[in-house]
Amino acid sequence: MNKLTTTNFSRRNFIRNSALAAAGLGLLNSRSLAAFAAQSGLADLYKNDFLIGTAIGTRTLMQPDTEMLDLIAREFNQVTSENAMKWSSIHPKEDVWKFEEPDKLMEFAEKNKMAVQGHVLVWHSQVPRDIFTGPDGNQASKELLLKRMESHIHTVVGRYKGRIRSWDVVNESITPEDGYRKSKWLEICGPEFMEYAFRYAHEADPECLLIYNDYNEEDPKRRDFIVEMVKEYKKKGIPIHGIGMQAHLNLDSPDLKLWEQAIEAYASVGMKISITELDVDVLPYDWGRSAEISTNAAYKETLNPYKDGLPKEIDDKLTKRYEDIFKILLKHRDVVDRVTFWGTSDDQSWKNNFPMRGRTNYPLLFDRQHKPKNAYFAVAALKK
Ligand code: GLA
Repeated sequence: MNKLTTTNFSRRNFIRNSALAAAGLGLLNSRSLAAFAAQSGLADLYKNDFLIGTAIGTRTLMQPDTEMLDLIAREFNQVTSENAMKWSSIHPKEDVWKFEEPDKLMEFAEKNKMAVQGHVLVWHSQVPRDIFTGPDGNQASKELLLKRMESHIHTVVGRYKGRIRSWDVVNESITPEDGYRKSKWLEICGPEFMEYAFRYAHEADPECLLIYNDYNEEDPKRRDFIVEMVKEYKKKGIPIHGIGMQAHLNLDSPDLKLWEQAIEAYASVGMKISITELDVDVLPYDWGRSAEISTNAAYKETLNPYKDGLPKEIDDKLTKRYEDIFKILLKHRDVVDRVTFWGTSDDQSWKNNFPMRGRTNYPLLFDRQHKPKNAYFAVAALKK
């Protein structure tokens, strides 16, 4: 599938190139960095490599936060809705549909010539529980649940047919422990619920890029399971086109060699790679490193050490981490289709509240004042 062309972002000029060269050499002071940031955007720098996107939350879009929306339009050429297209948001009851926020996202994206990622059609989380219940109050039959899935997917994908470039069709349905995750979907329909989801999405928009999305996909067990699943899908003619790697990463884990191996493994079975929810958590943790959404932990002061600012040593590590990540992505630019951050600035990141509420985290490229961080300039400088 062709990449979105972004000629409207072609604002390359002498000042930008000099700024980048200087940034690479560590020569820019903060004033000239700010001048550079105002000149161009990351999406422009990476326009011949892959799309660069961000997730937009309800407050930003609906209030609306025009300063943030301007920043997003300048820096990115792809957007994902953080929540508004999930089943429980867009279709909270059998005959209730909420299209206001998704429509607004489409309007914003189209006005700014940005690609839209549909997120997400089938997931065990953020889905109304009553879809799993039949009219008699007992568990829904497989036939009924698949009918509901078909109608949901046809309505949502059909509404934005030709306008949404790519959909996350199924989210987080494979675990290293169980293979297919023990969910209501699996219990009622068996693993083929995923196959149906891909088929329904393809029927509704045959041109759309269809993705399986998950977290910690560098885990060799999860990775190998996904690779085998893709091979089987290809044999059966199931329309799957890409793997979405959420990439909720930490400063020290996972080992980026493993992460790169996962990119290679998925590409080796013909998949396009989308990095769908990138952020780098800098805070200490005492639970397993996982983006498992049901993880909940009680607040601990010792796990919130940077309330008053990020020490230089940690900021340097974050900058280096982002530089290493983008070096890998550039190396694999032939198979990497898109890199989406899960949010834009640190103050609005879910990582301040997951898995415990009320911490001060620094996972993104823009700080709490919405200014580009050192990590931003390191990522930009790779394209100098
Ligand atoms: C998962 C989902 C996202 C989001 C994050 C947490 O990664 O795919 O939609 O809910 O969890 O914010």
